[in-house]
Amino acid sequence: MEEKKSFLKQKIDLSSPNKNIVPITTAIGNDGKLSVGGCSIEELVKKYDSPLYILDETTLRNSCRAYKQALEKYYPGKSLPIYASKANSSIFMSNLVSSEGLGLDAVSEGELLTALKGGVPNEKIVFHGNNKSDKEIEFAVKNNIQVIVDNDYDLERLEELSNEFDRDIDIMIRFTPGIECHTHEYIRTGSFDSKFGFGIEYLNILFARINETKHLKLKGLHAHIGSQIFELEPHNDLGGIMINVILEAKKFGHNIQQLNVGGGLGIKYTENDTPPSIDEWVKTISRSVMEACKKHNLDLPILMCEPGRSIVSTAGITIYKIGAFKEIPGIRTYLSVDGGMSDNPRPITYQSNYSACLVSNPFNLDSKKKYTIAGKHCESGDVLFKEIELADCKTGDLICVFGTGAYNNSMSSNYNRIPRPAALLVCDGEAELIQKRESPFDLLKYDVLPDRFIKQN
Ligand code: LLP
Repeated sequence: MEEKKSFLKQKIDLSSPNKNIVPITTAIGNDGKLSVGGCSIEELVKKYDSPLYILDETTLRNSCRAYKQALEKYYPGKSLPIYASKANSSIFMSNLVSSEGLGLDAVSEGELLTALKGGVPNEKIVFHGNNKSDKEIEFAVKNNIQVIVDNDYDLERLEELSNEFDRDIDIMIRFTPGIECHTHEYIRTGSFDSKFGFGIEYLNILFARINETKHLKLKGLHAHIGSQIFELEPHNDLGGIMINVILEAKKFGHNIQQLNVGGGLGIKYTENDTPPSIDEWVKTISRSVMEACKKHNLDLPILMCEPGRSIVSTAGITIYKIGAFKEIPGIRTYLSVDGGMSDNPRPITYQSNYSACLVSNPFNLDSKKKYTIAGKHCESGDVLFKEIELADCKTGDLICVFGTGAYNNSMSSNYNRIPRPAALLVCDGEAELIQKRESPFDLLKYDVLPDRFIKQN
């Protein structure tokens, strides 16, 4: 029998999980079936049902360590990798990244609470957002969490709070560096059309404005240029641009000591994707900051970066059970699974591509067929794979989709009142629950029927 040249056959890069499609511990057992973290996926589904999110601890830790180690290797100054928790926010993820020495970036009270509950030290949390509520800003300030000032509104409220509490507050400002990244293209533009951050042309006014405040101390500078980026050049340019801003701020008496370059490193979802390694990415940004500092005789700032996807995406897989088939002769065969756009809104939102295989026949032995994998939601666009080649499969078979650790669970919804899946952590043959499966009854919890609608008798 001829074996399909499968992505599962590729050599695994242990030091940079974002370069693999599958979690590091992915294996095919003696029974020919798929396992991860030493756990048989079939057994996990028997116990925990489907759809099921699974995170591989080894892959997660290797990703965190890759950032830490590369920063230590290439950047002689102080540094801190900060996990962008929007990629996958949970008490477990907060706890894991914190145990690896990473900080955490939060963008809402919910993400802040989750980080604190997960044990991330307050001083390692940064608080982002282009429209923070008063309550959120106050919560951050009271908890000594550093606020990233995105606009004048943030600044005004921080000034008020610092006066009210009569204490200094260290701030970081976010600006738009004029680097635009779409996944596979890079442009330096004169325009800065983004809802996030201050325009670079406005910074001198801002520096002067901060000097008028009694208690706000400008300590950091932040920029983020995009996500799922495969090129190194944008980040190479970013270092120099940011150092120029630090020099400009110096003229106003500000001593910026923290430089946060955001996240954005891409991952390999399919065989067409060729992201650089974490090591290469960190090396590029470190060198660019160091060179610019050397040129201007500047002390090295504390270098921070905010990876999200490249920490958690490759560690995650989603398992679905196949239900209905619909063959449209000469056109396509739909195969429907028990999840879809509510647990993974990325295909319908961004037309994003993934890799997948059958759990019981990962190498697609036997006869191969082309399928369209549809979700179960009431929406024609709820399609996870427009076309995928799988071994002949039947109702009840399991499908494993790879690379779903980032922006799946965190962007999930209850569309069609479909409960969110359970999430498991796997490591060394053990599986532990990190998110309970929702039930349809959970979804009724927040519904309220006004009294006058409740029929008397
Ligand atoms: N820092 C800031 C300020 C960000 O806005 C983001 C992502 C990150 C860090 C992390 O970027 P990463 O390393 O994950 O690329 N929902 C989209 C991605 C949105 C990214 C938003 N910001 C998706 O599913 O592709």
